[in-house]
Amino acid sequence: MIKTVLVSGGAGFIGSHVTVELSQAGYEVVVADNMSNCDDTNYKGVCAILGKEPPFINMDFCDSSAVAKLFADYKIDAVIHFAAFKAVGESVAEPLKYYRNNLLSFLNVLEAARQSGAAVLFSSSATVYGEPEELPVTEASPRLPATSPYGNTKQICEDFLRDCCSAYGLRGTALRYFNPIGAHPSALIGELPRGVPNNLVPYITQTAAGKRERLSIFGNDYPTPDGTCLRDYIDITDLAKAHVCAVRRMLDGKMESGYEVFNIGTGRPVSVLELVNAFEKVNGIRLNYCFAPRRAGDVTAVWADPSLANEKLGWKAVRSVEETLAAAWAWEKRISLHEE
Ligand code: WQD
Repeated sequence: MIKTVLVSGGAGFIGSHVTVELSQAGYEVVVADNMSNCDDTNYKGVCAILGKEPPFINMDFCDSSAVAKLFADYKIDAVIHFAAFKAVGESVAEPLKYYRNNLLSFLNVLEAARQSGAAVLFSSSATVYGEPEELPVTEASPRLPATSPYGNTKQICEDFLRDCCSAYGLRGTALRYFNPIGAHPSALIGELPRGVPNNLVPYITQTAAGKRERLSIFGNDYPTPDGTCLRDYIDITDLAKAHVCAVRRMLDGKMESGYEVFNIGTGRPVSVLELVNAFEKVNGIRLNYCFAPRRAGDVTAVWADPSLANEKLGWKAVRSVEETLAAAWAWEKRISLHEE
């Protein structure tokens, strides 16, 4: 029996890659998105990669009757919830916008799952660990108080899911992503930030493409080997495959408890400067960059211990940072410079 997976936010960066990997693994995928933070570029790319059009529903997950109708129209075996706002700085300026959208949409998903019995996968974040005292972080590392409303919504949604699994017997998984980067090897789907990018890799690729004059490296006086921050950059296709493993574990009855949490990272810390140098080297480009003051709210270092996901999900990150940065550049060239 083919199982059906609903992907909310399926037209976005992570959602589109997950749609591809699930479809290629033999799942039926229903894509839903309100297109509030993207256009149809990635959905079209998904269709081109797959050679078919997964059903697409333009809807807002804050609309409870639209969510109920979706679950009535399709027999959903699992739902992966990506639909959310994700700009950390904006969330500080507009907390109510973030709390209303990110919490209400997930409550509606949980209500539908309670009624239908669908398994639920929530897209969480390493942001729940804050500035960790011990590295690498394991799933047992403490969740520290969030420094932004965005980060707080990740913690609250994890708690919503944990409590619903315990009370209603739902199956739920939270995947804590470290820093997802890159693009599909076909260069047909990738990251499409609106306006000036907040995140490092799109800023790098847009600078290389001439859309931004210069990259600012925020802080070179951190207590790290080269003075710049350390992160765990995880390839988007590797990350997407973790979702297939997690869905399969839930639907095949392999979970060890109703609610499980996994770190999705490489286990390899990379500094901002190392990432910039790797981008230059693998793509043969000199990047215009300068050192700038630290960015408010940045943690010095965070990287994953991914051994629980390696063992229980049978998943492992396999792509090198170089491969990932080459894919990110191929995507940027196609989008900005129209090079095929
Ligand atoms: C990485 C490093 C910056 C831009 C954020 C969210 C997190 C998650 C992923 C999002 C840092 C440095 C960046 C630039 C720079 N969720 N940098 N110049 O901050 O680790 O995580 O994105 O949906 O919750 O907080 O990622 O890519 O913004 O920054 O020097 O122009 O690059 O200081 O050290 P971050 P990032």
